[in-house]
Amino acid sequence: PVLVVDFGAQYAQLIARRVREANVYSEIVPHTASVADLLAKDPAAIILSGGPSSVYATGAPFVDPELFEAGVPVLGICYGFQAMAAALGGTVAQTGQREYGGTAVEVTSTGTVLSGSPQSQTVWMSHGDAVHAAPEGFEVLATSSGSPVAAFEDRERHLYGVQWHPEVKHSPLGQKALENFLYEGAGLVPDWNPGNVVAEQVAKIRAQVGSARVICGLSGGVDSSVAAALVQKAVGSQLTCVFVDHGLLRSGEAEQVEKDFVAATGVQLKVVDARARFLAALAGHTDPETKRKIIGREFIRVFEDAARDIVEHSDDEVRFLVQGTLYPDVVESGGGEGAANIKSHHNVGGLPDDLQFELVEPLRTLFKDEVRAVGLELGVPEGIVWRQPFPGPGLGIRIIGEVTAERLDILRAADAIAREELTRAGLDRDIWQCPVVLLADVRSVGVQGDGRTYGHPVVLRPVSSEDAMTADWTRLPYDVLSIISTRITNEVPEVNRVVLDVTSKPPGTIEWE
Ligand code: XMP
Repeated sequence: PVLVVDFGAQYAQLIARRVREANVYSEIVPHTASVADLLAKDPAAIILSGGPSSVYATGAPFVDPELFEAGVPVLGICYGFQAMAAALGGTVAQTGQREYGGTAVEVTSTGTVLSGSPQSQTVWMSHGDAVHAAPEGFEVLATSSGSPVAAFEDRERHLYGVQWHPEVKHSPLGQKALENFLYEGAGLVPDWNPGNVVAEQVAKIRAQVGSARVICGLSGGVDSSVAAALVQKAVGSQLTCVFVDHGLLRSGEAEQVEKDFVAATGVQLKVVDARARFLAALAGHTDPETKRKIIGREFIRVFEDAARDIVEHSDDEVRFLVQGTLYPDVVESGGGEGAANIKSHHNVGGLPDDLQFELVEPLRTLFKDEVRAVGLELGVPEGIVWRQPFPGPGLGIRIIGEVTAERLDILRAADAIAREELTRAGLDRDIWQCPVVLLADVRSVGVQGDGRTYGHPVVLRPVSSEDAMTADWTRLPYDVLSIISTRITNEVPEVNRVVLDVTSKPPGTIEWE
């Protein structure tokens, strides 16, 4: 693999993704890994990421000069570039002058990394210190007003560096620079793609599972569906999937799992109809955290019963549980092998001691967009592969107030209309998600036909986001909003107002509860 050494900013994951987009497999390693640790992974190339530190800060992550003796091509980016310069005897100056944002650089020699670059270009910078003199043996390739040495390389030793961030889209020629490093600098062949993962994971799953039985909790979301489809492909009838229908899904979603997914993949599915049980448990509760806890608790209990039932009625040992853990979760929880990071209830944490399973996590090395590619490769229905994020507690946290069967029906109807029109307008891939929220305890006066109405408002909450950590409200076209509003107020009798949430996150969260 290409190893991306993470110096502790947000950038390492983005670099790893860009390398994979260049069809070269990459993995992220913490900067605390020793040179021996890195070399043990037999890297084809190493990229040192940016980071928040100054090489002068006490305790600043440091690069062992031995790394540069190993004959492995290395690219330093931003902090990684400066750390490389410092380790090899260049001069890094604390100028106190920050370069931040789009910055003009002059390319004095294109060398390998900047091959194909025009003489002037705009790149994305974010740094305080600057490299003032390149180490011996390096050629300076570019300069900017704040960075006398903004890029350098030593072709003989296959060492390269840029002060800017080639991985961000604000550096228009950034991907080209990364590809130059990978293909020319490191001589790599672009032959990896997420589809390759299928064969590799199938072999891995077979080796791990042998002839034992496996269970998997399906939520209807992308991750659990693709994970299940992979395991199904690997061990077929040894897998049983459990789908807990808690009645809090949107219109058509349960059917998508029970019919389309089963038809497409051939998995053995055990559906547990727990709708009445969830409604009973939620009756009378209005506090958001209480509702979340109730849904989480009931979910585990229902799943536990279903799992126990499968274990008791199986002739073979049921030893494995499939989880749709993704690479960002693995990296954020400390990376490497180690234990699974169980994030929320629908990942089925908290099973009792007598129901212990080993985990099968076939998506551990993948980013979300790669999971989608694998899903398509496996024939998972597109409606599932492209499903926008949907919270585990489902519509239960989109009804403000008590959750009842009638309110769920109202919200489902309004939500279905909004989704249909957003799809019709071709906006699905532009928005991150668009919760529709029912303000069940609010009523307002309206007029419809000849009569006065006294109905409920629903809120449209379209957001744009990269990762759900921050979000902005999406500027949906007025005509689309208008159609949604007209249809909802016409077709859902209990709703007489449609309002738009124009709050970013922060300060608002994406969901209302
Ligand atoms: P918030 O509301 O915190 O949501 O801005 C961020 C993202 O997380 C989703 N979300 C959840 N997902 N279980 C989940 O699996 C949950 O309990 C949960 N709560 C929120 C939300 O839809 C958004 O994408």
